[in-house]
Amino acid sequence: RKVIYFQEIESTNEYAKKIAPHEDEGTIITADVQKRGYGRKFRTWMSPKGGLWMSVILKPKTTPEHIVKIVFLGAIAVVETLERFGVEAAKIKWPNDVLVNEKKICGILAEGSFSEREVYYVILGIGINVNNPIPEELLSTSTSISKVLGVEIPIEDVFKILVERLEYWYKEFLHGKDEKILQKWKEKAILNREVRVIREEGEIRGKAVDIDELGALILELEDGRKEKVLYGDVSLR
Ligand code: BTN
Repeated sequence: RKVIYFQEIESTNEYAKKIAPHEDEGTIITADVQKRGYGRKFRTWMSPKGGLWMSVILKPKTTPEHIVKIVFLGAIAVVETLERFGVEAAKIKWPNDVLVNEKKICGILAEGSFSEREVYYVILGIGINVNNPIPEELLSTSTSISKVLGVEIPIEDVFKILVERLEYWYKEFLHGKDEKILQKWKEKAILNREVRVIREEGEIRGKAVDIDELGALILELEDGRKEKVLYGDVSLR
């Protein structure tokens, strides 16, 4: 397995996208510091020293609607990694956040290049707050492994386990074990609770009850109707 390491980089996802067309599947880009890490909707992702910032180049022979399962398996692999280090109660918040005690500990950003019928590549970007300090203004919404455990743990150890779990679940994906991935995701997700979904068209409230096979969140509205949400931010408060 090829790992490209930087002390400092703009963004591992950005770099991965640049090299992906000529790079083999499975190559991992990682950096100690990202100067311009970003998340969904190009929001800034603070990436100081002490965190795990990495991107994996994947080239699954599949169609674009299956990419969501790659995001899902990424979140599952992160939850299992956290559990391995004794961080219990890590939960997935649809579609791609991992929370501990309702505070964000990890963000996942998948970026793809594809046509209607073919996926050229998917960059699975994962950022985990390991030992890095959490800025004062984010303390109410974010946490880190070292904060949860009360001790620092070596980033290389987290990296090793995460890669192992990612490989396991990606193989399952390639073998068409979609049902298993969705099942595991649901087991680890925050479901059956009231949420607010914030979308460009406005906000809706409801109970997050399930996901469908395309990864859409199914909300149960107050009047009992169900609504599917494909895009949006879920707020638990
Ligand atoms: C989100 O929560 O919106 C996703 C955050 C994803 C952050 C990771 S860190 C490694 C990779 N490189 C980036 O610039 N972003 C992702």
